[in-house]
Amino acid sequence: MSSTPQIVKPYTYFSKIYSHLMSSVDYKYWAKYLIEIHDTIGSKKDIALELAAGNCEISSYLKKQFAKLYVSDLSFEMLKNNKKCKNKICCNMINLPFKNKFDFIYSTFDSINYLNDETQLSLFFNNISNHLSENGHLVFDVSLKHNSLKHLKKLNRKGKYKNISFEQISKFDEETLIHSNLIRIKLKDGSWVEELHKQKIYDFYYYFEVIESNDLYVSECFDAFDFKDGNRDSDRIQFIVKRKN
Ligand SMILES: C[S@@+](CC[C@H](N)C(=O)[O-])C[C@H]1O[C@@H](n2cnc3c(N)ncnc32)[C@H](O)[C@@H]1O
Repeated sequence: MSSTPQIVKPYTYFSKIYSHLMSSVDYKYWAKYLIEIHDTIGSKKDIALELAAGNCEISSYLKKQFAKLYVSDLSFEMLKNNKKCKNKICCNMINLPFKNKFDFIYSTFDSINYLNDETQLSLFFNNISNHLSENGHLVFDVSLKHNSLKHLKKLNRKGKYKNISFEQISKFDEETLIHSNLIRIKLKDGSWVEELHKQKIYDFYYYFEVIESNDLYVSECFDAFDFKDGNRDSDRIQFIVKRKN
């Protein structure tokens, strides 16, 4: 191992081992939950947008739900891994490049936690309020403190996948509420690269505040994968948000 690993933009190399690191995630089950939500609040005529889609695992299950689905992510490397998915746009969810509005905007798997300061989070909701159709819905999940503490041990791991050696060092700072994941990957030439992924674990009530301040409101707030109300002690919250007007 070289003594000074090269630090690279998150997701450049991570995208290559993403499926492996996420192999415990049941995307089919997750998609079924979102389909149930969409069946209740949306319509098959909906034009949908997935934000922070990663390598588009969930969109392959969801695309039949909508008249049209666009998938987007900040990382070109993540998006290009999925060859089957169409309508892919590489963009930042706090600066959406679309002129049109969407009936159903969704994001899965803690992606909103990647907006790791209050300004970014507010900008995100501001973008949403400009891109949701009049009766449109924003559906997203966030990870709360319990979830960070619960999974910390198993996120500290090392292994090998398709000849790529990797190491993950996961830390949760209870003061800054930043959950960081340092992913170290060994390249073919024997050198190591590091990617630092930082997620902010906002308080449950803060979401209501920032959503309300951007002309939106929380229409439902579930304990994720269920339809009962979530609360501060939930692991993960599933939000359903609408425009105020
Ligand atoms: C934990 S992954 C989740 C990916 C996917 N939603 C899934 O369920 O597999 C987080 C994703 O958020 C994306 N991301 C982080 N910050 C972003 C931003 N500001 N705008 C758009 N995507 C972002 C990353 O590139 C990454 O693909």
